[in-house]
Amino acid sequence: MNAEEASVSRETEAAAKAAERWSAAFPLLERYHGWLIGAGVERGLVGPREVERMWDRHINNSAVLSEAVTENATVIDVGSGAGLPGIPLAIVRPDLKVTLLEPLQRRVDFLQETVDDLGLHERVFVIRGRAEDLKDVQAEVVTSRAVAALPKLLGWCWPLVAPGGEIIALKGAQAAAEVTAAANYLRKKQLQARIETVGAGLVEPLTTLVRIRKIT
Ligand SMILES: C[S@@+](CC[C@H](N)C(=O)[O-])C[C@H]1O[C@@H](n2cnc3c(N)ncnc32)[C@H](O)[C@@H]1O
Repeated sequence: MNAEEASVSRETEAAAKAAERWSAAFPLLERYHGWLIGAGVERGLVGPREVERMWDRHINNSAVLSEAVTENATVIDVGSGAGLPGIPLAIVRPDLKVTLLEPLQRRVDFLQETVDDLGLHERVFVIRGRAEDLKDVQAEVVTSRAVAALPKLLGWCWPLVAPGGEIIALKGAQAAAEVTAAANYLRKKQLQARIETVGAGLVEPLTTLVRIRKIT
């Protein structure tokens, strides 16, 4: 098998795993996939090279966050871009209310059109803005993926966390180093950071996340 065939086979397998794990939600995931590889690429929100790993690297990698989020939570997804992880999370978890926060108008337009087309508008909301400028908006869970390193991200996101809530940041292999770099902020605000993995049987490598809560 050459590299191209291997990539197609990996992606086909990833879509099949999504269909098996989230069977009821799979048609909506597929429709979102269509938005990402269609308008997402045409409008420059998604790199063309991501198309062949859209399920594996992006949709499944985001949807597995559902394992970490408490039931019926309100969620703000900071720096949602083309909707990751917020839209896959909202699709596979119909109990959640998700706000997608994104500063760039082009991306906000894409997000709103996608949310409307997927019929998610009653519980998925799009706000244009920067996390550090948001006033009077909080949620029980604040998510982010590929937005900023933890020390900066904490300063932006912790004010958006409702009392008793948490930040769940998707991170890669650098998670532990970022937690160390954020030690001052964590101490000052009396927060604890826990590194966890999710997505067993669905994504390889597993998705690493950092969960940040008030020390109780
Ligand atoms: C690399 S993209 C990641 C997008 C998406 N989360 C993903 O994983 O594909 C970073 C996103 O964060 C947004 N962003 C940058 N600074 C931000 C801020 N201060 N507040 C909210 N979003 C921000 C950018 O506009 C961009 O869409």
